[in-house]
Amino acid sequence: MALNDQVQNFWEQGVCGSSTTIVGELKPLSKEWFERIEEHRYSVEPFIHGVAQFPRHHGKKLLEVGVGAGTDHLQWARSGAICHGVDLTAEAIATTRARFDLYGFQSNLTKLDAETLPFESDTFDIVYSWGVIHHSEKPQLIIDEILRVLKPGGTFIGMLYGRHSPAVFKVWVRHALFKGKPWLSFADVVWHNIESIGTKAYTKKELAAMFASYRQVELVPLMTTYDTTRWPRWLSKFFPDDWGWFIGIRATK
Ligand SMILES: C[S@@+](CC[C@H](N)C(=O)[O-])C[C@H]1O[C@@H](n2cnc3c(N)ncnc32)[C@H](O)[C@@H]1O
Repeated sequence: MALNDQVQNFWEQGVCGSSTTIVGELKPLSKEWFERIEEHRYSVEPFIHGVAQFPRHHGKKLLEVGVGAGTDHLQWARSGAICHGVDLTAEAIATTRARFDLYGFQSNLTKLDAETLPFESDTFDIVYSWGVIHHSEKPQLIIDEILRVLKPGGTFIGMLYGRHSPAVFKVWVRHALFKGKPWLSFADVVWHNIESIGTKAYTKKELAAMFASYRQVELVPLMTTYDTTRWPRWLSKFFPDDWGWFIGIRATK
């Protein structure tokens, strides 16, 4: 089966951030369910607001690639952006649509594989994508498509996973070292054990090369709770933000 079909199958089974450990017994798609997802998201990833800076983009034409449960997409709408969203799964599109209906907002939502975007060149002021591009079989195609659909001077804002991070090290210890396979690479354990099959994680240097066709590329590594959970506190001082599992990106066309 093609990799992106496997990626789609994985995410069709439940939108990102809606596991029962987060939402408990709350009724799916109810206001309480969405509010719990939102509350949890920004308690574990509070830096999203700093990277996205939603309110600064009032009135701008926005495309979000990989809307998931639509939590950030709702922040774009609340901030007055003109919203367009895409995702590989019907589940994410239906969930985001239900959320927008519930809160009285509008977005043009489409289910598609973002390796090919059905938009004219030079269309969007902002393209946003948080934790999505590294799941696709050919991330470079998405990055190139985003550049094409951005207006000149438009901005890509997003996040991709960082490979040299405590989060990946912990996955390596569990799935390589403890299984007697210390020769497995960080890339290998990320591919097979983090979310959908085929997940990738990058160094800052690799990301700089992938975004080389953009201007003013700013990479902001973020130390996350996924890095620091079950991590001895004394070790943290050896791992500044530069080693974080998330790498925020702002890049201009
Ligand atoms: C980890 S979730 C992130 C969702 C959301 N951005 C968030 O931060 O909660 C990854 C999402 O990317 C979507 N996705 C993966 N590959 C994709 C592709 N090639 N095109 C469009 N969406 C994709 C998945 O369907 C899933 O909804």
